[in-house]
Amino acid sequence: MRHHSGTVEVICGSMFCGKTEELIRRVRRAVIAKQKVQVFKPAIDDRYSIQHITSHNGQNIDAQAVNTADEITQLLRPETTVVAVDEVQFLDYAIVPLTGTLAARGIRVILAGLDLDFRGEPFGSMPELLARAEDVTKLHAICVVCGEQASRTQRLVNGQPANFNDPIIMVGAQEVYEPRCRDHHIVPR
Ligand code: TMP
Ligand code: MG
Repeated sequence: MRHHSGTVEVICGSMFCGKTEELIRRVRRAVIAKQKVQVFKPAIDDRYSIQHITSHNGQNIDAQAVNTADEITQLLRPETTVVAVDEVQFLDYAIVPLTGTLAARGIRVILAGLDLDFRGEPFGSMPELLARAEDVTKLHAICVVCGEQASRTQRLVNGQPANFNDPIIMVGAQEVYEPRCRDHHIVPR
């Protein structure tokens, strides 16, 4: 008999690197494999639709919006074997013990989120989730300035680089954010 142990997978990288696209790909394959999948996302990200997660290239799947990690526990169905969470950087710290508990119960946990905020600093609980995961995928976008691999997200306010002291959370897409490499990522202090 095959042993099925739970695992935590994290998909990370800058904005526009394809995190949500990769999450959707893994979820679709799990569904094809007849797994019972539940997909969650923080309610804070209302960019496209509250009942879906949508990638920058327009793909989408159904998701349940939650305000806290604890809501995931409340919404979890007993038959669920795969739990996917997009934009996990926005969730409270309780997501860390929760993913551990789910994996210990044999559940495959797939997380996607920004490893770094616009300042280039580790985002929320992501560092700890990355450290505890069995599997980490770090994706790259293309730097809009030079075409090299982008590892960072540039925030622009009226076309100018946002200041280090600006608020960390600011939901948006192309109009305020650009993928950039280390050299072209600018954060005035
Ligand atoms: P994405 O990773 O799916 O592109 O979405 C990232 C979301 O996070 C988007 O709504 C913008 C937001 N965001 C912040 O709130 N603070 C930040 O520092 C960065 C880089 C993004
Ligand atoms: Mg995304």
